[in-house]
Amino acid sequence: MTTPADREIIELAGTDRERAVPVLRDGFTGVYRWHAKKTLGEVDRVRGLVLGDVVVGVTLLAGLVPEVGYVYYVAIATAHRGKGLGGRLLDDAIGLFDQEGRSVVYVATEPENAPMVAALRRRGFREVERKELGFAEGGLGAWGLRSRMTLVWGEILMGRRLRPQPVKADR
Ligand SMILES: CC(C)(COP(=O)(O)OP(=O)(O)OC[C@H]1O[C@@H](n2cnc3c(N)ncnc32)[C@H](O)[C@@H]1OP(=O)(O)O)[C@@H](O)C(=O)NCCC(=O)NCCS
Repeated sequence: MTTPADREIIELAGTDRERAVPVLRDGFTGVYRWHAKKTLGEVDRVRGLVLGDVVVGVTLLAGLVPEVGYVYYVAIATAHRGKGLGGRLLDDAIGLFDQEGRSVVYVATEPENAPMVAALRRRGFREVERKELGFAEGGLGAWGLRSRMTLVWGEILMGRRLRPQPVKADR
C-alpha cells in the first residue's frame, strides 16, 4: 500500500526531464501538448512528483523577471488525480518561488478547469484584471509579461502576491 510519504517531489534536470513526458502527454492535447513538451526543455526548473520511481506529476517553472515566478504547466497523470497531488505540486512551486525571493506568482488556466481554479483559489490566487495596477505598483497586473506567458484565447491569468514590492529609496 502506498502512503503520502511514498511520494516525493524532486528536481528533474538534464535528460531526466524526459521522465515528465508521459505526464504531459496525459495532461494535454493538441497545441498545448506540443507547447508543454517544447517548454519542458527550456524552463528554469522542472519538478516531478515521484511515486516509486515513476513520475506521476510535474510542474514547469520559470522566473520571468526577478520579481515574478510563473508556473507554465502543472499536470498529474489521470490515474492519480483528485488525491491532492496537484495541490502539493502547487505548494512546492509557491515555496520555491518564495525562497527565491519572488514578489508575485502567476498561473494561467482555462476558467472551466474546475480542479485547477479551486486549487489556486484555495492557495490565495485571484484572477488578474487586464487593466489593474501592475505588480511593481502593488497590484497584480502583468504588464509587459503576458506575451512571455504564452496565454491563449479564453485563458485567465491568476496571481498571488508573496511579499510586498520593495520600496525604492528614491520614492
Ligand atoms: C489540474 C490538475 C493538475 C489538478 O490535479 P489534482 O491532483 O487532480 O488536483 P487535487 O486533487 O490537488 O485537487 C485540487 C482541487 O480541485 C478540487 N477538485 C478535484 N477534482 C475536481 C473536479 N473534478 N471538479 C471540481 N473540483 C475538483 C479538489 O477538491 C481540490 O480543491 P481544494 O484544494 O479546494 O480541496 C489535474 O486535473 C490535471 O493534471 N489536469 C490536466 C492538466 C491541466 O489542466 N493542468 C492545468 C493547467 S496548466
